[in-house]
Amino acid sequence: MSRERLMVGLDVGTTKVACLVANVVDEYIEVIGLGTSPSRGLEKGVVVDIGRTVQSIRKAVEEAENMADVRVQNAYVGIAGKHIRSLNNSATVSITRPDRIITAEDVRRVVEAARTMPLSPDVELIHVIPRQYIVDGQEGITDPVGMTGTRLEVDVHIVLGSVTAVHNLVRCVEAVGIGISQIVLEPLASAMAVLSSAEKELGVVLLDSGGGTTDISVFRGGDIWFSKTIPIAGEHITNDITVGLQTPIEEAERIKKQYGTCLVDSVGDDEKIEVATIGGESTKQVSRKKLAKVIEPRVEEILDLAMQEVEDAGYRDLIPAGVVITGGTALLSGIAEYIEKRYGLPARVGSLPQGIHGLRDIVESPIYATGIGLLKYAVETRDFVPTKRTRGSKGMLGKLFGWFRSFLRG
Ligand SMILES: Nc1ncnc2c1ncn2[C@@H]1O[C@H](COP(=O)(O)OP(=O)(O)OP(=O)(O)O)[C@@H](O)[C@H]1O
Ligand SMILES: [Mg+2]
Repeated sequence: MSRERLMVGLDVGTTKVACLVANVVDEYIEVIGLGTSPSRGLEKGVVVDIGRTVQSIRKAVEEAENMADVRVQNAYVGIAGKHIRSLNNSATVSITRPDRIITAEDVRRVVEAARTMPLSPDVELIHVIPRQYIVDGQEGITDPVGMTGTRLEVDVHIVLGSVTAVHNLVRCVEAVGIGISQIVLEPLASAMAVLSSAEKELGVVLLDSGGGTTDISVFRGGDIWFSKTIPIAGEHITNDITVGLQTPIEEAERIKKQYGTCLVDSVGDDEKIEVATIGGESTKQVSRKKLAKVIEPRVEEILDLAMQEVEDAGYRDLIPAGVVITGGTALLSGIAEYIEKRYGLPARVGSLPQGIHGLRDIVESPIYATGIGLLKYAVETRDFVPTKRTRGSKGMLGKLFGWFRSFLRG
């Protein structure tokens, strides 16, 4: 029997908030609503201004609701920022019952054991993802329930975040009157949207470079092994253009998108662009090569820092599938070629996978990778930390606001 459900992904980024609404029938995802709004309350991926973040979320949600003609009640919400830490752990339990058949309760027990560790009070568990189960030494099992054995082991990937960062995000979403189905690590979501199973199997680095942060994650054997966020991305490139070409920030952003590239040698010496001056009253001519020369060193810095993290974590030689880059900064002309040349690895820009229907041509951009990934996550998850903050646990203000919205919509 097929089940039709409404799923919502809410990507609260440093540059924009994106709300994606989908109709899901079994694993068929049809995007029926998209709302975006410029994000004003975040810095480096974390909420620093609750009021402004609430406004941005509300606007994006309402736009998506209007397009889809539904009311959003719960959402899968992405989280990132350099407060995120991840680690790998494992645990073992014995199966002592006479029949030795492994039950769901045994699986729960072993995962519970793997996630039990001393945590400081300012840290919160975001994910506990079982990578593999091992039954009496036999590795690579994804679902041991029903198998026979005496010893059940699990390898898990654990993601931790700062309590304050998580709570501020939760408060913002709940203030809009939306319950949180689950908080999801953004790179995990983006990976679901843009990586192929073959890449994840072989070994690949995913870089999600947005406005304020670049998230780095490594996948191998089908699962996530490493993730880290560095607080440097597209906004820094724009700032450099503002300074380097003496132009207002909006103009710097425009010319970056329209004429920017990180391949200095690909630009002819005689190519000129019109750029607004600081006062904005007039324009001046600047060589496009100069623009590229401002962009290139910053791109180099972002990518070098990211690849250094991969190296430090010991994965540099374990990524034959190379690098996939997504997020808005992946749209910078020449970036995949740049990565290939600089690191000698295959590289491509990741946008949309197969299997997404509906507003495909609109959401087929690296900018929506996280939002789409949240929907895929919602459909495919096998995570063990569903948040306790599920439906109905909204604060009083959130409940009132939710009620008010239903009232307005009749
Ligand atoms: N064509 C383009 N060329 C270069 N950069 C681009 C282009 N289009 C968008 N960007 C940049 O992408 C960034 C926004 O990306 P994205 O929407 O993924 O960020 P975000 O998710 O809001 O931020 P974050 O993930 O860092 O919190 C901006 O810095 C923007 O300038
Ligand atoms: Mg983002």
